[in-house]
Amino acid sequence: MESSCNFEFYNPTRILFGRNTLEQIGPCIQSRRIGKVLLLAGGGSIRDNGVYHAVSSSLRAAGIQWVEHWGVQPNPILSTVQEAVQRAREFQAEAILAVGGGSVIDSAKAVAAGCCMDNVWDAFARKSFIEKALPLFVVLTLSATGSEMNPFTVITKEDERKKWATASPALYPTVAIIDPAVQMTLPWIQTVNGGLDAIAHILEFYVMGTDEETTIALDEALMRSVIQAVDQLQEDPSRYPARANLAWAATLALNGISGTQLRGGDWSTHMIEHGLSAVHPEVAHGTGLGILFPAWLRYMEPHNPAQFRRLARQVWAADSLNEGLERMKSKWKQWGTPTALRELGVRAEEIPQIADNVWMAAPLGQLKSLSRKDVEEILKLAY
Ligand code: NZQ
Ligand code: ZN
Repeated sequence: MESSCNFEFYNPTRILFGRNTLEQIGPCIQSRRIGKVLLLAGGGSIRDNGVYHAVSSSLRAAGIQWVEHWGVQPNPILSTVQEAVQRAREFQAEAILAVGGGSVIDSAKAVAAGCCMDNVWDAFARKSFIEKALPLFVVLTLSATGSEMNPFTVITKEDERKKWATASPALYPTVAIIDPAVQMTLPWIQTVNGGLDAIAHILEFYVMGTDEETTIALDEALMRSVIQAVDQLQEDPSRYPARANLAWAATLALNGISGTQLRGGDWSTHMIEHGLSAVHPEVAHGTGLGILFPAWLRYMEPHNPAQFRRLARQVWAADSLNEGLERMKSKWKQWGTPTALRELGVRAEEIPQIADNVWMAAPLGQLKSLSRKDVEEILKLAY
């Protein structure tokens, strides 16, 4: 494997981070001479925790007109995106404002692109590329996916159970506001899922490492920060510094920084998880990854043993990968998240169907390309 590879780093998203930053959303939009936006939201948590009130007050004060589209569900679906595109077109929205977690932001990206093309799903199906999108503004309420500062979106075409991703430079949010204090209302398990997703993003890159010390050491620090912050929040969910550390680590986990030098990362665990949550939409992305990553690491150890041992040592204070994986799983148990697929109610007979739903059109995985049989073996190890 080539070490210390060349890379390009690009990230145009402007981040406003910290307490009381929500009120800046109106002026941010107004200063870009945008007067009409579609506000996209999920199931209503932002009404309960004051985020909607703060955002709508700020829009009103800045003279921004808006229409709202509610109801984006976790593991978001294409039909919601299409409805929102229609509403944005009718209103002649000039920008999309996402207020929520990764599902709302991903949907907003698809809506922003969908307003500028005939059928946005074509981009997910690799039949076209997103050349253009409306400007996207984000108010983040759940740190997990990094979607607030990256060019990716993941949507499920529900009638075909395809949970696929696409990317385009046009999808970087223009501005993302991250006020960690608004995450104090998260149910405990969503905080855990956020931490698991962030760790998984870092791991997707880290496992490719050989001698890229700058990025590898940064990634280890990020993983330790996530673990420490989740531990602190388990003791006290309203501890602001822990919320802030978790939030920033989750953004850095997938905004390009954690993956420099590391050949684009592996990403097969993510693809397998998307196959799992396409078949079981009730399974949260982070929960699925928490179960699948230890299985993938065990299966793949022979392909980069020194780096996997380093992971065990530096992040889990363990002498071997085996011991590291034991510590990882006992941490997950302490946090109250499942460590086996069977605990999710997945039936063993469903494993082939999940494997069928894994995106296999391109080679799966970079560390080693996985066959469909490998995927089944990993799912069995995770069972
Ligand atoms: O729907 P609402 O009412 O907003 O409630 C949400 C939802 O039920 C709730 N929530 C969010 N902020 C809250 C809150 N509840 C109380 N207080 C708050 N402050 O949390 C629930 C889960 O939200 P969701 O947005 O689904 O979670 P997450 O941010 O983990 O997003 C997961 C989605 O992102 C995709 C995943 O596959 C999944 O579909 N991913 C996107 C990526 C990207 N764009 O880069 C990369 C990831 O690997 C991932 O695939
Ligand atoms: Zn993820």
